[in-house]
Amino acid sequence: MVILSPSILAADFAQLGQNIREAEEAGADYIHFDVMDGMFVPNISFGLPVLKSVRRITDLPLDVHLMIEEPVRFLKGFKEAGADIVTVHEEACQDIVGTVMTIRDLGMQAGVAVKPDTEISVLEPLLGKVKMFLVMTVEPGFGGQKLIAKCVDKVKELRRILNAKDLRTDIEVDGGLTRENVRTVLDAGANVIVMGSSVFKGNIRENVAFFKDVFKEYN
Ligand code: DX5
Ligand code: ZN
Repeated sequence: MVILSPSILAADFAQLGQNIREAEEAGADYIHFDVMDGMFVPNISFGLPVLKSVRRITDLPLDVHLMIEEPVRFLKGFKEAGADIVTVHEEACQDIVGTVMTIRDLGMQAGVAVKPDTEISVLEPLLGKVKMFLVMTVEPGFGGQKLIAKCVDKVKELRRILNAKDLRTDIEVDGGLTRENVRTVLDAGANVIVMGSSVFKGNIRENVAFFKDVFKEYN
């Protein structure tokens, strides 16, 4: 099943509750929550207090993407704020396996992300240990960028590796996905689709309905 995870980084923060409600009512499956620390990525977004407020207004799984250095320091806080899935960057953790185990021990689902220039082979020690891998399709840090084509090949490579091991791990893609290019990542084997601008710019309900309709071809 293909999952739509709208990234609220592209929402209107003055209308955040309303924006999320519209996405949810139109059929969004998760809410993607981008946390940036100004260190791991050259931008700052939002954090725990905002997550806590979002938790109060939706029952959808909160898909938290931590673009922060040594996220292990904050995992308990994210659990308490209501995160369901926590994805950490392989590049940001000294002990990636230990960090994943901490996420799981706290009762959350674990994901591991890689930036466009990070090889898929670094994920080898994590096979079978995570719910999801996130293959970034832009350099993390900003919404509204253009998809980097070579990242689609990484999705294909990862799906091949997972299939060969009979693993049903989710592959999430994030960044630069649009009505025009979403089929390329689906064809490559991604099944959790993050979209910021393509959902929250323009008519949210219409955008969600459009993508859910495309996903039906893949279910
Ligand atoms: C980028 C974030 C993305 C971002 C995607 O670092 O991880 O989730 O919101 O935005 P779009 O879909 O506009 O590229
Ligand atoms: Zn993200």
